[in-house]
Formats: sequence, structure tokens, C-alpha cells
Amino acid sequence: MTDITLPARKPARPHFSSGPCAKPPGYAPEKLTVESLGRSHRAKIGKTRLAYCIDLMREVLQLPDTHRIGIVPGSDTGAFEMAMWTMLGARGVTTLAWESFGEGWVTDAAKQLKLDPTVIRADYGQLPDLTQVDWSTDVLFTWNGTTSGVRVPNADFIPADREGLSFADATSAVFAYDIDWSKIDVATFSWQKVLGGEGGHGVLILGPRAVERLESYTPAWPLPKVFRLVSKGKLAEGVFKGETINTPSMLAVEDAIFALEWAKGLGGLEGLKARSDANAAALGKIVADRDWLGHLATDEASRSKTSVCLTVEGADADFIKKFAALLEKQDAAYDVAGYRDAPAGLRIWCGATVDTADIEALGPWLDWAYATAKAG
Ligand SMILES: Cc1ncc(COP(=O)(O)O)c(C=O)c1O
Repeated sequence: MTDITLPARKPARPHFSSGPCAKPPGYAPEKLTVESLGRSHRAKIGKTRLAYCIDLMREVLQLPDTHRIGIVPGSDTGAFEMAMWTMLGARGVTTLAWESFGEGWVTDAAKQLKLDPTVIRADYGQLPDLTQVDWSTDVLFTWNGTTSGVRVPNADFIPADREGLSFADATSAVFAYDIDWSKIDVATFSWQKVLGGEGGHGVLILGPRAVERLESYTPAWPLPKVFRLVSKGKLAEGVFKGETINTPSMLAVEDAIFALEWAKGLGGLEGLKARSDANAAALGKIVADRDWLGHLATDEASRSKTSVCLTVEGADADFIKKFAALLEKQDAAYDVAGYRDAPAGLRIWCGATVDTADIEALGPWLDWAYATAKAG
């Protein structure tokens, strides 16, 4: 008979959402530095904090001096679309899609920019054949597909001598994996994922070839002010020093600084990766011990260590809804239902802000929710 008694121990922080993700351990809003709030972001104090945030991101990401990094509006979507709208159209375009967000960039390229891209797709749980990519074109891909839990294993599929530019939506990948920046011309992310920061702002990383494109090519379509990275034919360098295009949320910036200082205290990127790896391994053990749970991403080499997507035997969307609601009601796990467009299943964030002990504590709760949902 199935045991449906409530497990004794709950995860201390039941925050397993894949975005916005759990705040860093020890986070409290009253710990944020607030002197920059209520001041002009162009005053010395605002500019200093924005520049400090940029410097911290560069340090923790181990971003080389060849690449610029700046804070832009509109979260990851804003940053990625800014890159698409300002740089695409100069040559052919290839878009790779293996889940919902990659599919969103296909829609942008095909329906909005009308670029007639070559689209290379794979089903949820799979990676397409990356050797098929024509690198004489600009290539758009999602480093870690948050809604399928499938990622590229590394940047080896990107040739050093590519003619086109590589555009990586890296929002649930940065701070969790090693990234060979020499292979990346454009990368974007938002603070709300691995850092446990706030949405609202995006981060745009540009390599030298992307800057060259921006300065030598003017797209055929009009650009809204929030997308304009070039002034009089030259890159607006101020954006990469903290002179934002429009007014930023200094509260979100201070929140990101808190997370980045926490990351630095862990030893930076190595510390963040170690936490994410340990979380993914702990969840992997839970899955291995249960015949009713499986990984949506079958190939371990391309399985996410941040947004881990799980299959549940016999589950449909209604079952998963019930399953997730049971866990939420007990304050045992929040936001663990898979993404709305993905096959019905669970998605459990394993990024660095989650504590491994909380992943471990989740196992018996998943058993309880499964048995309870089935019994009900
Ligand atoms: C891979 C990927 N791209 C883009 C987005 C959109 O990010 P944002 O809401 O920060 O714009 C997300 C959000 O979950 C994502 O996971």
C-alpha cells in the first residue's frame, strides 16, 4: 500500500521556481544598500553603483576584456530583441529551437523581422544536430532551454572562424556553466535566474565582432529608442559603463549587487557552479531512486543543471496541476509544474541560490504528492 503520511521535514526554503528564482540564502530586503534610491541614476552615486554592478558581473562571469557588458531595459527578452533588431538582416539567419523560448526567437526572426530564417528544431527533451548549422549565417540559440531542461554541452559547435555572429540567449546558463566567450558574439541574460535577482533589466554582452556589426550596418527597419546602441555611427559606449539608455530601477540594481557580492563570497563562478552541480546531482539521485520519475532530457551531456525538467509516469496537465498545488498548499515546494507549453511534468530549479539540503528534502514530498494526487 502507498504511504501517504506527510513527510516530517520540509525544505527550509521551498522556492524551486525557474524564474524568478530563489533569492540567495540569507537574503533580506533590509540588507540592501539603499543610498542610491530616490536619487538621479545619472548622479555620481547612481552611476557608481551601476558601474560597480557591471564590474561585479564581469568579475563573477570571468568575462574577458574583449567583451563589453551593459544593463538594458526589458529583462532578457529586451536584451535579446535589442540584439536581434540592431544586428540581424546583414546576412542570412539560422535559428535553433528546442523549446518555447528558442521558438520565440524563431517567431521574432520570421514573423516580425521577416528574415526567412533557416530553422533547426528538436522536440522537447532533445537537442538538434548542431553539426548542421551553417556558420556563414548569423546563428541564434538558447544556451539552456529553460522549458525543456536541454542545454548545449559547451561551445564546441561554434567554429572559431565563423563568418556569421553567434547570438546566445544565456539567461538560465550564465553563472552555472563555463562559457567560452571567444565563441560568443552576443549573449544576454537577466538577473532573475541563477542570481535570484529581479526581472525588469536585461544584461547585454557584446564581443568585438558584434560591435563591428553595429558600427558598420544599419537595419532596414525603424528602431525604438530603447534599442538604440549606436550614436552617429559609433557604439554608445556609455551603456557599458552604467549610463543606461533610460531610467533603470536602482532597487533592482542594488538587489543584483547583493546577489553578486554573495556569489563573490562563494568564490565566484566556481562556487556558483559547485552549488548548481550539487543540486542537480541531488535531484538526479531522487529521480534514479523512483521508477515513476524520469528526466525529460534523456542525454546527460545536454541535460540542464539549472532548470531540470522531469517526466511523471501517467501524468497529464491536470494531474501535474493537482500535484503542484498539493505541494504549494503544504509550503513544501512552490512553482514546480513544468512550463505551460512543455509536455506535462515537473520542473525544479537547481541553480546556485537553492540549497542542496532543500533539494534532498524534496524527495519524500514528491512521493507524498504523487501518492496523494493518484489517490484523489
Ligand atoms: C531561455 C529564456 N529566454 C528568455 C526568457 C525570458 O526572460 P525575461 O522574462 O527575463 O525576459 C526566459 C525566462 O524564463 C528564458 O528562460
